Amino acid sequence: MSTHTELLEQLRAAVGTANVLTDGNLSAYEQDWRKRERGKSLAVVRPANTAAVAAVVRACAAAGVSIVPQGGNTGMVVGSTPDASGTQVVLSLQRMNQVRALDAANLTVTVDAGCVLQVIQETCEKTGFLFPLSMASEGSCTIGGNLGTNAGGTQVVRYGNARELCLGLEVVTPQGEIWDGLSGLRKDNTGYDLRHLMIGSEGTLGVITGAIMKLYPLPATQLTVFAAVPSLEAAVQLLGLAHQHLSAGLTGFEVMGKFALSLVSKHFAQTRVPLQDRADTPYYVVLENSDQESEAHARERFERLLEVAMERGCVLDAVVAESINQARALWHIRESIPLAQAQEGLNIKHDISIAVSRIPEFVLLTDALLVQAFPGARLVNYGHLGDGNLHYNVQAPAGADAEAFLRDDEKSVNTIVYDMVDRFNGSISAEHGVGSLKREKLAQHKSPVALGMMRAIKQALDPQNTMNPGRVLQH
Ligand code: FAD
Ligand code: MLT
Ligand code: ZN
Repeated sequence: MSTHTELLEQLRAAVGTANVLTDGNLSAYEQDWRKRERGKSLAVVRPANTAAVAAVVRACAAAGVSIVPQGGNTGMVVGSTPDASGTQVVLSLQRMNQVRALDAANLTVTVDAGCVLQVIQETCEKTGFLFPLSMASEGSCTIGGNLGTNAGGTQVVRYGNARELCLGLEVVTPQGEIWDGLSGLRKDNTGYDLRHLMIGSEGTLGVITGAIMKLYPLPATQLTVFAAVPSLEAAVQLLGLAHQHLSAGLTGFEVMGKFALSLVSKHFAQTRVPLQDRADTPYYVVLENSDQESEAHARERFERLLEVAMERGCVLDAVVAESINQARALWHIRESIPLAQAQEGLNIKHDISIAVSRIPEFVLLTDALLVQAFPGARLVNYGHLGDGNLHYNVQAPAGADAEAFLRDDEKSVNTIVYDMVDRFNGSISAEHGVGSLKREKLAQHKSPVALGMMRAIKQALDPQNTMNPGRVLQH
């Protein structure tokens, strides 16, 4: 019997025959969300509990077969799908989808890694708590994937990214041992913090099977505004005013370029984008304030902020949501951009971070270089300005063959953008991770000392290199 046949038998014994998928249409597991790469797995394995994950990992390790951990497969950097060899096992956590416990006094929720983010949010909300991690993919991404990528989203300005929200993990090591780090302690200085090593490691150091996450009280009031601004500089100025006037109440601050919004109108005609016809507005902002104050008090501060912003010319016009439904509709516009961009065709994505104060200068200089080098290329700029994180994306010229554009020009586009990121002392991946799409660029842009330490950690924890090999680090 071949090694692979023997392994498949062991995997069936560990998770049940129905949960070892080898035939049929496996594109949901083998094709990445952005349709950048299509892989081929040896099998997709769907364990239902931590012990079964450990059994799968042990069997694969013994056979020398590599594993690609997968949650919702919504990642942006080709990190959760197998390569084309047909020899890797996709370990899908989707059946591990239980909220294990909610501790109201400790303000924590303990969840299986395959829990869908929205399910966690809704479960906590029903009990009167806020789980603040939020992003447009929340209907399908999982908490394991969020932690694997250290995801950000739209509430980071107040609550931090996935890392800041995590108090502990349960992990299956590359050797198939189980590490239970779910104590939920807020203070624990007993040596290296393994949780932080695992968070953001993109499945290269082990499989996250459970997590204990922080909760917050549900906000009493929530105010959302959609504002037209005269420039990116004005958006940065507005952010400063928002910090000053709202302090900790500022929960979201997103920027959207006019062209990015035009894609939403084009592909989702039913989504009405306010203030879109203003010729003097290259950028728009969605800003959210939420806290425990009375509605009247919060509204007073919010209106004062808008008044000052208008007096200073950093807001031209604004639509304030009058109800939760209207607020949702305004957020929906922002959240539709990645989907609209995908509908427009294959594209080059950048997920960069730079000191907020320097973002306008970065965009001015980089826009000029790109427009000169690639006439007609369309710049789709939006993102989490409150965190200094832009999705500075590039779409092929209108009517051009997008596949050919990416094939011929992606490397040069990336060189222009990332060299500029270096000049501004920024990061080439703020929240999406490295996966395989940015692996080569990481090797060029990260310091050799940092890369050396990363390789040493990988070698120490996964000497066989069976955990998501070729992701983050080169072989
Ligand atoms: P997957 O895509 O399945 O996996 C992502 C990575 O994590 C892979 O390397 C995988 O191997 C690893 N991984 C998955 N599960 C585990 C596990 N249990 N243990 C160890 N490693 C694991 N991202 C943001 O940061 N902010 C956003 O605002 C945002 N918005 C998005 C909007 C849309 C419409 C889409 C499609 C994506 C968006 N993303 C965003 C990207 C994506 O949703 C996040 O990266 C998310 O955290 C991925 O979760 P997932 O469960 O889909 O993980
Ligand atoms: C977003 O902010 O919308 C996400 O990170 C997804 C994307 O950039 O496409
Ligand atoms: Zn984002």
